[in-house]
Amino acid sequence: MERKKKEKVLVTGGAGFIGSHIVDLLIQQGYELIIIDDLSSGKKENINPQARFYQININDSALQEVFNMVKPDYVCHQAAQISVSYSVAHPRSDAQVNIVGLLSLLEIAFKNKVKGFVFASSGGTVYGEQQTFPITENSPLHPASPYGISKMTSEFYLNFFYQTHRLNYISLRYGNVFGPRQDPSGEAGVVAIFIGKMLKGETPTINGDGEYIRDYVYVKDVARACLLSIKNMVELAELKKIKRLNQAFQAVNIGTGRGVSVNQLYSYLQDILGFPQEAHYGPPRVGDLRKNILDSHLAEQVLGWKAQYGLAEGLRETAQWLKQIEQLN
Ligand SMILES: NC(=O)c1ccc[n+]([C@@H]2O[C@H](COP(=O)([O-])OP(=O)(O)OC[C@H]3O[C@@H](n4cnc5c(N)ncnc54)[C@H](O)[C@@H]3O)[C@@H](O)[C@H]2O)c1
Repeated sequence: MERKKKEKVLVTGGAGFIGSHIVDLLIQQGYELIIIDDLSSGKKENINPQARFYQININDSALQEVFNMVKPDYVCHQAAQISVSYSVAHPRSDAQVNIVGLLSLLEIAFKNKVKGFVFASSGGTVYGEQQTFPITENSPLHPASPYGISKMTSEFYLNFFYQTHRLNYISLRYGNVFGPRQDPSGEAGVVAIFIGKMLKGETPTINGDGEYIRDYVYVKDVARACLLSIKNMVELAELKKIKRLNQAFQAVNIGTGRGVSVNQLYSYLQDILGFPQEAHYGPPRVGDLRKNILDSHLAEQVLGWKAQYGLAEGLRETAQWLKQIEQLN
């Protein structure tokens, strides 16, 4: 009996937090995986041994050789400079990875006739401050940081490559992603930071009054959004043609529609970990948005995606993973 050839997906940033979960899920689903990562923040231990791994920068000329060699069917672009505060201090360096790096990939992807391009955008930053919640994809884009500007600009470029070169794409505007493999020593990722500290018996510090509202989405749900994007890519392009996606961009929010304050998050974690101490409060972080909650009905309509993990379940799995890591160290 003839065996169906596996489709190949190239994941940039596949050694990182979100990218590595995408790689794991796609391998489980029968795809052949290729990872490109420069390991600037990604880790070797996150790399699925069944994937082919190339340690290169997305701006490196070796990118072309990798494409020539592996001929991917799809690209799932997760590699990025991910720190908002770094982008504020170093906007040029942020743009070098997040805008120029994207362009390097897009030029090669359309020349290699990939079937589709999935982009990791940011629903937490492209909208900036809004008045109406939850935020839909048609809400105005007001990014307040170079990082958010780079994600918004990327969507304009994706649209350009779609219009001009017929490169199919979807942009997934993630909420605040959390879960296993998020770096507890990073400056972003409040869930990992709080759990990491609580497990060490240290009292976490809440920046500002703790009434900053976010839409926390579990990383395995995000990985499933990427899988569904790949599965529906060709159909999505058709949808766009008949204008059922009633917006300029082929972008969908990936969130839960539920807003949770940092104070609430802290108290959930106290319950889960049996951590008695109350939080310390520090000065607010400059530029932190007050509120971000994403409406993901469009993702449900066009991808059949809806968050399946509840916050408590995701927090428990993340705490479990961090406990194991602590024991290993
Ligand atoms: N974590 C979140 O809450 C969140 C929210 C919205 C959007 N995103 C986006 O999701 C994607 C993944 O983020 P993450 O949280 O997993 O971060 P991460 O830092 O864990 O992953 C990024 C990966 O990209 C790699 N990388 C960075 N620059 C590179 C370059 N120039 N060439 C090759 N590889 C490079 C890093 O080594 C790392 O493995 C990013 O595009 C990020 O902007 C994340």
